[in-house]
Amino acid sequence: MNDPVAIILAAGKSKRMKSETPKVLHEILGRPMVEYVLDAAREAGATRMVVVVGHKAEVVQEALKHHEDVEFALQTEQLGTGHAVMMCRDALAEHDGPVLVLTGDTPLLKGTSLAGLLSDLKENDAACVVGTATTEANEGLGRIVRDSEGNFLRIVEHKDASPEELQIQEINTGCFAYDCKALFEALTEVRPENKQGELYLTDCAEILRNKGRNVLAAERLTIEEAMGVNTQEQLAEVASVMQSDG
Ligand code: UD1
Ligand code: MG
Repeated sequence: MNDPVAIILAAGKSKRMKSETPKVLHEILGRPMVEYVLDAAREAGATRMVVVVGHKAEVVQEALKHHEDVEFALQTEQLGTGHAVMMCRDALAEHDGPVLVLTGDTPLLKGTSLAGLLSDLKENDAACVVGTATTEANEGLGRIVRDSEGNFLRIVEHKDASPEELQIQEINTGCFAYDCKALFEALTEVRPENKQGELYLTDCAEILRNKGRNVLAAERLTIEEAMGVNTQEQLAEVASVMQSDG
């Protein structure tokens, strides 16, 4: 078993920032926001970080090249979160052990929450642990569907959800812990059969469950720490939260 690694998705375009700077390089208290995500992954025990770059890839790579534990995978076309993770297959071909999958725009993530996902993975001998949070403000987020006994069934994206599923307040934070081999095996079976025509990373959890693998959804995060920064306003909010946390 190798030490945990982390995949950090950062290839998207982020129109809503209205800026030439790639989203993950926007600074909070003098540091690019993606560096806070790297720190949280390190704190959880990750020793290698694979950052998926696409939009303005060279700029992001240049800004992060001084981190010795960071490597890059290029996604030339943004075909979905599952496709983005597929771009890391070669880099992680030899990795036997856990992998955290995170996004680069969530600078409030806590290392202890991610460590919790990794310990759930290990203790339950699971193939996947979906990091969840509960919120009434579930607009646009993937919903966690469970059976009547509370067992995880699947993640359904907002755009694909039925009226009943839209009511669900437990959401996918976009933070996962996976067994690396299981993740890449599941990705070969993901198909773009959804409203957005994308390859969804979120389908992997259901694919593994249908194979009889152990898949859990664990409410290890708060909605605050999992909130992605999409606008200049949210960037300012995050800075003020960080400042008040010291
Ligand atoms: C995703 C999840 C959703 C979850 C939400 C949490 C999927 C299908 N849905 O939705 O369940 O509740 O995050 O915020 O995963 N990216 C790439 N390459 C791509 C597509 C995306 O690198 O081809 C990156 C984006 O830059 C972004 C992240 O992945 O940082 C999430 O992508 P986005 O398209 O915003 O997913 P959501 O619709 O927010
Ligand atoms: Mg998003």
